[in-house]
This record gives sequence, C-alpha cells and structure tokens, in this order.
Amino acid sequence: MTPVEPQSPQPAQFRIVDLFAGPGGLDIAAEALGVPSIGVEWDAGAYATRTEAGLLTVHKDVRECKPTDPEFEGANVLAGGPPCQTFTVAGHGAGRRALDTVLQFVQRLVDRDKWDNIAADLDDLEDERTGLVLQPLHWILEAIDNPDLDPYHAIVLEQVPAVLPVWEAYAKALSDEYETDFDILHTEEFGVPQTRRRAVLIARRRNHGPVLPDMPPLKLPKPTHQRYRSKANPLDDGFALEGTVPQKWVSMAQALPERPTPFTVISNYGTGGDPKARGERNSDQPSATVTGKISRNRVVGPNGTDRFTFPEAGRLQTFPAEYPWCGKDISQQIGNAVPPRLGMHIISAALGLGSPSEQAFERLASWTPPERRTGDEAET
Ligand SMILES: C[S@@+](CC[C@H](N)C(=O)[O-])C[C@H]1O[C@@H](n2cnc3c(N)ncnc32)[C@H](O)[C@@H]1O
Repeated sequence: MTPVEPQSPQPAQFRIVDLFAGPGGLDIAAEALGVPSIGVEWDAGAYATRTEAGLLTVHKDVRECKPTDPEFEGANVLAGGPPCQTFTVAGHGAGRRALDTVLQFVQRLVDRDKWDNIAADLDDLEDERTGLVLQPLHWILEAIDNPDLDPYHAIVLEQVPAVLPVWEAYAKALSDEYETDFDILHTEEFGVPQTRRRAVLIARRRNHGPVLPDMPPLKLPKPTHQRYRSKANPLDDGFALEGTVPQKWVSMAQALPERPTPFTVISNYGTGGDPKARGERNSDQPSATVTGKISRNRVVGPNGTDRFTFPEAGRLQTFPAEYPWCGKDISQQIGNAVPPRLGMHIISAALGLGSPSEQAFERLASWTPPERRTGDEAET
C-alpha cells in the first residue's frame, strides 16, 4: 500500500479558545485566516462589540469557566491576553512583587499543587488581577492531566513587555510537552501603522495532531517591515534588517488615506508627566502605541484640530474599517486589543500555516459585520 503523504495543517482543523478575548483582535485575525474561534470575555462593552462582529463568545468570568465546559468541546488551540495592569509597573516595587508572586504560583502549578488551594490563595492577593495571568497555564495543564481532554495542539499568548518573564516561566513549565518560542515583537515590523511592543509566546505540542511531526522548528514570525526609529535616531527613515529587504513601516497617512495631510497627533500625556513634553507623531510616521486614551489625543491638520474617530483608531490597530465598535468605553476596547494583523502572523506561526497570504490580509481589511453582508458574501 502506498503510504499516505502527510498533509500540511489546514486552518479548519483548528479551533481556538481565546481567554480574555476583548473586542476580538485575535479572533478577527483567526477568522481572516479561516480558523474558527470562541472567546471568553466578561466586559459588557467588549461583549457587545464581539456580538455585533458575529464572534462566538461566552460572556463570563474566565475563572468560572473550565476546559471541560461543553462550549469548548473540540477547542484544540488555547489563546489568551490576560489583563496585566499589575505588572506594567515592573521595575517599580509593586510590579516586581506581583511578578515574583506569579512566578511562585507558576511553580505551584507545575508541582501540581491542587488548583483549589492555589485559587484560594490567589483570592487572598492584594490585587485579584495578579492571578489572572495564571489562568491560561491552569487550562493548559488541566488539558494535559485530564484523561477526558486532549492537550492543546498550540498556544498563543500576548501581553505587555513586562510580562515576558511570565511567558519565560510558562515556556519552562511546558518544555516536556511543547516546543515554545517567546520574545518582544514590534508591531510596526508586521505592517501595523503603529509602534507597540508586545510580549508574545507561541507553543506547539510535540509530535501531535494537525501539526505534523516533521514540520520546521517552531519560531515566532519574522518581521515583514522595517523597525521604526524615533526622531532622535538618524535612521528615522527605517533600515534594512540584516540579510533581508523588508518593506518600510506603514505610516498613519497610508492607513488613513481619507484624512487630509499633513497632520500631527499630540498626545494627551507629557513625557515623564511633564505636560510641556507631550509626545508628537506626524502623519508620515506610524502612530504611537494606541492606548485606551487614544480619543484624548489632539489631531492637528490642515482643517483644524479634532480627534480620531473610533473607526480610525481601530484602523491604526489594523481592525477592518467596518468593525462594529459598540458598548461602553470603546477607546479602552481598541487600546486593549491585539492588532489583528499581528495576530494573523502569530496564529499562523503557532499553527504552522506558513506566512499569511496577501488574500488573507485583504480579507481582514475588507471584512464586514454579518449584519451588513449581502448575497453571496453573507453565505461565506
Ligand atoms: C488585554 S484585553 C485582551 C484583548 C484581546 N486579546 C484582543 O485581541 O482583543 C483583556 C480582556 O480581558 C477581559 N477580562 C479581564 N478579566 C476577565 C475575567 N476575569 N474574565 C473574563 N474576561 C476578563 C477584559 O475585559 C479585557 O477585554
């Protein structure tokens, strides 16, 4: 009998469960790649946006859900962007203490201390959010240990740079079962018109499932665009990475072609708290990091001063122009999200799907909410 040739992994073989799913940055990226997903999100505003976008969502606290819940049946990829406000002051006393605490809890999980004991101790922490970063590891280990479940084939985690030591501890904890890669990625290096740094971990189960045993080693995606250098740096125009000729980063003017240029975005904050030292970016540069305060920034252009609209702020994060932002605190929803374009690169790398195609990026950019789809489009 002729041996059956192994097939490359196909998007439809996967199903992502996305913990702390936000307005859907990762999930809309997955949809553009053809990978189904289900998110868990407790915030009413983010849930409203997701619902309008047609993203499958369990509207609950992640801590009240478990991998054996029927909604998650068939999920073979775990993704998550747990909120990490408590670490963003890393280097400062409180952030460092939160980090040390979490690393001790990671060890307790690895040592298979009972989850009920760990959960009780997490409840006693000064800031309950500190423990949320442990939820993905709890789910991953539960799927490994529970005979009724299969371990996840792949894992995708994303957070602010201060969380990198936690991802490093995750990688160590999972090393028997998973290949891992983790680092800080710069969003403008992936065609996002924004400078934003994120700690990303991807993992792939060794020798299993839709992911073939003879696949090349797991690696974070390679940049497709140049790194942006600030004004203070003479290489402001971008530079060629060693051995490659990536495209130049994308500017705000390119991302928002309808907006009259030139314009300057003046941040609401001053560097180091000094209101006179407010950050500025011009339309021919990428946006500064899009945060939950983006609508407070002034945009000074040829026709006067205004603010970015929600769709514009969403596009600086590479959400589709028609993304149906709704509910409360939309700026915060936008600032919280993984830029979908970066999400596509990360998911593809974790699942071994190869670099996302131009058609997939086009699908993302021209995506419309289910409500506005017509005819054939509505059926796809
Ligand atoms: C950093 S954002 C994730 C963004 C998401 N990855 C995306 O790409 O859009 C974290 C999200 O977790 C949600 N969240 C925080 N604590 C939660 C909890 N205990 N259960 C469910 N969701 C929670 C927040 O409302 C927020 O939307």
